[in-house]
Amino acid sequence: VKKCNLTGQWWNDLGSNMTIDEVKKNGDFTGKYLTAVSGSTSNITASPMVGSQQLANLSQPTFGFTVHWSFTDSITVFTGQCFVDEYGKEVLKTMWLLRSRVENIKNDWNATLVGYNTFGRNKTSWI
Ligand code: BTN
Repeated sequence: VKKCNLTGQWWNDLGSNMTIDEVKKNGDFTGKYLTAVSGSTSNITASPMVGSQQLANLSQPTFGFTVHWSFTDSITVFTGQCFVDEYGKEVLKTMWLLRSRVENIKNDWNATLVGYNTFGRNKTSWI
């Protein structure tokens, strides 16, 4: 079975782009994330991400990463699995939590969004 490798460029269904650097022996990785969309009015810039994947002697590893947005005060965590589909294409199926910073604890109840993204190796391959 072809192994699903997290290293390299990915695009998701929103048009966001991320680059994952080399995955270290222990599963840790870093990268950068350029989101295509934002709830903030600030100009979008590439943001750092750090994550880790399960040690992939297994071909389709699970992983998680955190994006610390460099242009606003929110943060997103993603978790997912790297799959090789029936055509041999690598696909990341993820879910995320986006935490906004709120000024008052009374606004905690609506400070977290949840969603999902699918990533592929080029702009349209997430389909
Ligand atoms: C913000 O608006 O607070 C920062 C940018 C958030 C972008 C979100 S993270 C989940 C979803 N997937 C993406 O690629 N972009 C959005």
